[in-house]
Amino acid sequence: MSRISGILLDGEFLSFLRKIEAHEKDRIFCRHDLGHLLDVCRIAWIMNLEQGCGLGRELVYGAGLLHDIGRWTQYETGEDHAAASARLCGGILRRSGFEEGEIARIEAAIKNHRRPGAQDPLSRLIFLADKLSRNCFCCRARSECKKPLSEGPPEL
Ligand SMILES: [Fe+2]
Ligand SMILES: [Fe+2]
Repeated sequence: MSRISGILLDGEFLSFLRKIEAHEKDRIFCRHDLGHLLDVCRIAWIMNLEQGCGLGRELVYGAGLLHDIGRWTQYETGEDHAAASARLCGGILRRSGFEEGEIARIEAAIKNHRRPGAQDPLSRLIFLADKLSRNCFCCRARSECKKPLSEGPPEL
C-alpha cells in the first residue's frame, strides 16, 4: 500500500474529516472536505511537474491531504487551522510510514499554507494550489465572503 493510501485509510484522518463535515454542514462558504484536499494535492502535483521542482509525489500528497485537517479545532476553539493542522498531522504521517525529515517538511508547508512568500518549494506549491483550488470568481457566496476576491478566474 502506498503511503498516500495509508493517509486516506487512517482512522484519525477519517474522524477529523467527519468532524469538519459536521461543522460545515450548513456552511455557505467553501468547505474543507476530501474534494478540496484532493484538488490541492493534484494542482500542487501538476505545478511540481510543470515547474520542475522535483518533489516526490507522496510528499506533495501528504501535505495536500493534511493541510486543512485541523480545521475542526478552529470551529471549536478558535485556534488557527494552519497551526492546528501542522500540530495534528504527525501521528497520521508516522502511521502511514513517513520519516521524520519528511514530516518536518510537511508540517512547515502546512503551517505556511496561508502565507505568501515562503521560500521552500513545498510550502510555495501548497499555498498556490490552495488558492487555485477555489473558484471564488463564480461563487454564490462571494458577496458575503471576507476573503479578498480576485475579479476573474485564476491565471493559469
Ligand atoms: Fe486552509
Ligand atoms: Fe485549503
